[in-house]
Amino acid sequence: MKTILVANASKAERQFIARLLKSEYSVEAIGSAEEGPPEFGRYDLVLIDSNFTPQSGLDFLMDVYAKHAVPVLMLFKPEESVAAVEALRLGMFNYLVKTAKVYDILHLAIQDALKKCGQLAALKDANSALKERIDSLETTLSLVRRSGSLLPSKSVTPAPQNGAPAVKGQRHTLLTAIVEHLNKGEVNLPVYPKINHDLRKLIKGQPSVAQVASLLGEDVTISAKLIGVVNSPYYRTGSPISDLDQAISRLGFGMVMNYVEMISNRAIYTIRKPQFQPMLGKLWEHAKACAHASRMIATRSGAGNPDEVFSMGLLHDIGKLFLLQVISELETSGACEEVKADGDLTGFLGMYHERFGEKLLHVWKLPAAFCEIALHHGALDNAPRRSGELLAVHLANRLVNTLGYGENASGKTRADVMDAARLLDLDEATIDAIGVNLKEQMEGVAVLV
Ligand SMILES: [Fe+2]
Repeated sequence: MKTILVANASKAERQFIARLLKSEYSVEAIGSAEEGPPEFGRYDLVLIDSNFTPQSGLDFLMDVYAKHAVPVLMLFKPEESVAAVEALRLGMFNYLVKTAKVYDILHLAIQDALKKCGQLAALKDANSALKERIDSLETTLSLVRRSGSLLPSKSVTPAPQNGAPAVKGQRHTLLTAIVEHLNKGEVNLPVYPKINHDLRKLIKGQPSVAQVASLLGEDVTISAKLIGVVNSPYYRTGSPISDLDQAISRLGFGMVMNYVEMISNRAIYTIRKPQFQPMLGKLWEHAKACAHASRMIATRSGAGNPDEVFSMGLLHDIGKLFLLQVISELETSGACEEVKADGDLTGFLGMYHERFGEKLLHVWKLPAAFCEIALHHGALDNAPRRSGELLAVHLANRLVNTLGYGENASGKTRADVMDAARLLDLDEATIDAIGVNLKEQMEGVAVLV
């Protein structure tokens, strides 16, 4: 049972909150900072009311954080918005405004905080793992140092260290800043959604529909979207389906796995900086299109298991998302100047996403074939082997770019598509049919995800 510390100066409120939460949590309550326990590490969450100290509880919040990185929720009166903003700046996880119904949503707010902080812990583990595998990026970095600046128009100012002022005017390449911050573990990595691993493992054991429904039913968003998919014009054959078991039976485990990956991966396509939003939107459209196209190509050519190839197509450019998120974080923390979402950045992502993507998929513990495809899908020449899956994603990537699903920064043409198609013995008519089917998928069902 998780343990929550309630810090509230009002005895009546302390007792009320303790009664409210005690069915789900072990609750300890204090009325003043002097009663504060010496070790905050034994709590899973701290709930501080702004009445707790004359400084609206902010001094106690800092005291908590000085001792332990435990999630903190705070309660503020409606007129205390300035204090709430300050608490957010200090690192408070979230806050609730004390309206008449605040205690109706307290359970949900606590559940949300505990869940998201669990994900953050997983993210830190991923950070450590990436740090261990940064060696080849260091090699890249040394090559860059020898060849000069990648983006000469961008100036990156290193973040101040140990309280020292930043060295203004010192020029670093963007790649240098990214690798240095990754090495220091100062950048958060995207986290592979846990549901994908869980479902992949469950499906390998040949489960019943009820077992799959039981796992997916824990996630309301995934359940609702799966039912939406099965009722889309693309899949709907008769009366509407409103039941998760029926939706799973209709799609089959392979497609369920694919759509769950698509739905859960959508959640990691987020970024703080508004200037990157259009680029991120295009990346997501490209990823979805490439996933569907890869599956169709694998089905038509026999190149690999279509369910697996779908996932490989979905993740082939994950390095671009990774790099954009790192750049966004560096900007937010002041570690680099603003990077414009222009042709320079597109070129930068094109040049480095494959290697960063390969590393990220390795950290996510996906099979080696996924990592190989992330690394070699753009150019086959350096691939140690040309697996059917690699050829399928290579072709899908070119095809969807020429169909308008992506930046097509490399300027691929129909002739390039057919060069890739011939490697799988696919003719022009088949490629055209895949293009038509892809358009139906993207307009009829992928739009729901
Ligand atoms: Fe791509």
